[in-house]
Amino acid sequence: MEKEFLEILRTLSQTVFVLSADNEKERHAMTVSSVASLSLSPPSMMVGVNKDASINNVLQKGSNFCLNLLKNSQSKIADTCSGVEEGEERFKNDPWISSNPVFLEEAQSNIFCKVVEIIPFSTHSIVVGEVLKLNHSGKIEPLIYQNGSYT
Ligand SMILES: Cc1cc2nc3c(=O)[nH]c(=O)nc-3n(C[C@H](O)[C@H](O)[C@H](O)COP(=O)(O)O)c2cc1C
Repeated sequence: MEKEFLEILRTLSQTVFVLSADNEKERHAMTVSSVASLSLSPPSMMVGVNKDASINNVLQKGSNFCLNLLKNSQSKIADTCSGVEEGEERFKNDPWISSNPVFLEEAQSNIFCKVVEIIPFSTHSIVVGEVLKLNHSGKIEPLIYQNGSYT
């Protein structure tokens, strides 16, 4: 069952984001694709986050995060933020802006949210965010992940 499930998931065309968040002590950025819009009123998003991910250190009800929608030229950032680099090293080569939350300046879009719910399920949590602010480049050129690579 698990093998077949993974095989089906690999066929999906997934839009790639970097989830970023910080507090006064540390900042984190991790590549995510389990992202979906949830409601329009209020505007809200949800993202699935592994309970072992280091970004959980700074995600809590009421805290801010950003979903940085990557452009198709930004696959290196996706690699950096999914294990090639760790912790603070993930921020050193790209135009990250220290704000609350920290965000990637040259993403296709930035969706700024406040955590309103964290719903645990098995190995993951569904983090629900109410959208507070948006930056949109107006372009439609997202980075896509399918069958184990960026297309
Ligand atoms: C394309 C892609 C999509 C990913 N999507 C998710 C996701 O939605 N949720 C998640 O918890 N991890 C996801 N990951 C894995 C994390 O990016 C990876 O485990 C990361 O290193 C976790 O951050 P940490 O090392 O700081 O704990 C994805 C990885 C890739 C390459």
